[in-house]
Amino acid sequence: MNIIITGASKGIGKETTLAFAEDKSNHVLAIARSGSLLSKLSKSSANNNISYIEADLNESLKSPEKLLKEVKKAFNRVDILINNAGVLIHKPFDEFNTDEIRLMTETHFISPLLLTKTLIHSFSKNAHIVNISSMGGFQGSSRYPGMSVYSAVKGAIANLTESLGSEYEGKGLFFNSLALGAVQTEMLDTAFPGYDAPLNAEEMAGFIYWFAKNGHRYFNGKVLPVSVNNP
Ligand SMILES: NC(=O)c1ccc[n+]([C@@H]2O[C@H](COP(=O)([O-])OP(=O)(O)OC[C@H]3O[C@@H](n4cnc5c(N)ncnc54)[C@H](OP(=O)(O)O)[C@@H]3O)[C@@H](O)[C@H]2O)c1
Repeated sequence: MNIIITGASKGIGKETTLAFAEDKSNHVLAIARSGSLLSKLSKSSANNNISYIEADLNESLKSPEKLLKEVKKAFNRVDILINNAGVLIHKPFDEFNTDEIRLMTETHFISPLLLTKTLIHSFSKNAHIVNISSMGGFQGSSRYPGMSVYSAVKGAIANLTESLGSEYEGKGLFFNSLALGAVQTEMLDTAFPGYDAPLNAEEMAGFIYWFAKNGHRYFNGKVLPVSVNNP
């Protein structure tokens, strides 16, 4: 299978890339801004099946032709896209400046939307597009001070997932979103120092790997909470 994973230089994206790369029949295309981390990741695969694109998706997707060309260099058809790249700015709502709000909106909503649209004619039959959301963006879940912008943009990508699931129903494309609970990664450690999450990145990646491969046989247009506690 041909898999694209964004935000693959560290955390959940990196571990999910490694999980897919364990199967030598897979080819994983890892995308993130840190070329040096991606290069190291690519070299770490015994199966030599991780290639990478060093890109700030928020910039590259302003005119996506070059990115699409680079994807096509790696493979013609995309079987799985995992929109995972993320940043978390955690602060009181009235302290956010416009650039920070734009960064969060682009990273979590506009870039995954544009990447999906850019690839829409490159997906194989029965391709699975998995959007990584958060319990913070899951309807009816607990809300926390300082998380308003993050929760709102995670809600937006979840909503898009439901809409695309419906728009492409019966057309050989499957869209689902995973609303993750807390996972011990750099993002969580920076925003909530000392918080002890029930899962580490490798453990969460194990589930995402299984779901991205199989979940579209069971679900389409769904937003699934993946959390044992609150959040
Ligand atoms: N950790 C949690 O508790 C938790 C809970 C719920 C949901 N999530 C979601 O899970 C996903 C992964 O989070 P994580 O905890 O693994 O975070 P992380 O360790 O901080 O990793 C984030 C990844 O996104 C990449 N990235 C950020 N901005 C980018 C951009 N503009 N273009 C390309 N790549 C970009 C980063 O790489 P570079 O810096 O190299 O670009 C990095 O590889 C995120 O969507 C996050 O919101 C996490």
